[in-house]
Amino acid sequence: MTKPDQTVPAAEALGPASAGLSQLPKRAIGIDVGGTGIKGGIVNLRKGTLTGKRFRIPTPQPATPQAVAAVIGEILDELLSREKAPALDELAVGVAVPGIVIDNVVLSASNIDESWLESDTTELLKDLPGRTFTLNDADAAGLAEARYGAGANKPGTIMMVTLGTGVGTAIVHDGVLVPNSELGHLEFEGVKPAEQKISAAARERLEMPWDEYGRTLERYLKHIERIQPVNKFIIGGGISKRSEDFLPQVTGLRAKVVPAQLTNNAGIVGAGLYAAEQSRLADFRASEQ
Ligand code: BGC
Repeated sequence: MTKPDQTVPAAEALGPASAGLSQLPKRAIGIDVGGTGIKGGIVNLRKGTLTGKRFRIPTPQPATPQAVAAVIGEILDELLSREKAPALDELAVGVAVPGIVIDNVVLSASNIDESWLESDTTELLKDLPGRTFTLNDADAAGLAEARYGAGANKPGTIMMVTLGTGVGTAIVHDGVLVPNSELGHLEFEGVKPAEQKISAAARERLEMPWDEYGRTLERYLKHIERIQPVNKFIIGGGISKRSEDFLPQVTGLRAKVVPAQLTNNAGIVGAGLYAAEQSRLADFRASEQ
């Protein structure tokens, strides 16, 4: 075996996965901003679980960035008052939102208040404790599933598909997230965006029986598979609790199709993990300059 080239800065070459879970602080905080509730928790980064209960506050209406930031502040106060809260000097806070996020700026707002468009969350959250990093909600859930759940320790590419009010997707290759895939917004069988036919909300609105929903989901995943083949699809969102009602219909794909394992808390766990890794990467890049 040849020796690895010590001159290659691993974190730069391989991205966050190379930082290694063991080198991260033990805990971080994850916040998941949803349409009805904003949920936060202390994330145990070794295990991918929550330390203590999650804390939820109903989403303010209208859910403007300022109103949501105030609620995130309240959630942080509660979580940081706990005995097992992360130390303030190494606190990383991840915030998952239902939109495209590039460099912590929100660039789409199909399922949140449109005042989020172009909102710079670094600026918005700058008075809160810790270092905050924002990412897409499906990306957060997918990252958590890939590292700790249904995709853990498996090589190759996984795609998480969250079925809720909307449809979110996340692509993770060998543990590294490729953010903002947004395949819920494809055109599918004449419907655009596809989420109008595939989401859990659409199933209820269209009064689709479970087996028909399963067959429709199968066709949608085949459609995705033609564009972005993966090793495994992980199906998440609240509806994944009922996966035995519709996943048996999803048979004709090359990739495996499995339900999510972390269910409710995947977004919180993934947001915390993302923030801890981004924080380390930011330190690494600063030290290399
Ligand atoms: C949004 C995505 C989000 C998904 C799930 C979609 O409508 O465009 O960004 O991940 O809903 O919340």
